[in-house]
Amino acid sequence: MIFNRDVLRARYGDLLAELSPQRIDHSLAVGVTVAAIAYRVPVGVRSDLVTAGVLHDIGYSPRLAHHGFHPLDGARHLAALGFSRTVCDLVATHTLAGREAAARGIDPSLFDPYISDHPAADYLRRTLSWADLNTSPSGQPVTVHQRIDEILKRYHPDDVVHRHVTRHRALLTRLGGPLPSFDREEQLSPYTLLPAYCVSAHDA
Ligand SMILES: [Fe+2]
Repeated sequence: MIFNRDVLRARYGDLLAELSPQRIDHSLAVGVTVAAIAYRVPVGVRSDLVTAGVLHDIGYSPRLAHHGFHPLDGARHLAALGFSRTVCDLVATHTLAGREAAARGIDPSLFDPYISDHPAADYLRRTLSWADLNTSPSGQPVTVHQRIDEILKRYHPDDVVHRHVTRHRALLTRLGGPLPSFDREEQLSPYTLLPAYCVSAHDA
């Protein structure tokens, strides 16, 4: 099956309905992007990757606000709907969410119910983050540099998002750069996106 925007909208549009039209466009574009490279990941998790790509920002829906942090709110909602642990993990951890949570003073144990131990989990996290960092807020392809600059312009320098992105700009740039192949996974270890790692090992 070819996962273009229309197919993904037909499949997930009801879940995205409460997001802004712009964020829906972004979500569908990220879904299309990860679908196009899903052949890179083990076959058993390809559907999960596409699902997480489309739904990674669902936690922005005001109705889902619980923790007040969209990756966790999205994962919480999708877990309640019965989505797989892999999908919930990817939504919870996408694009350095663990580090942003730490910057916000959010208890990292809140991620625990969603973290997957699938052998490809770290690569899947990296793949979704790569797609998110190369897709503009309205769903256009952009470079990671354009993406970061846009975020920094959109958020006031005092905002936690601005400070988080500034602090981790180098890591975000590497995450949004060329995606290694899965068989070079060992090279990803310094960039693991798990919250516990973020807090304990790399946030000095
Ligand atoms: Fe996104």
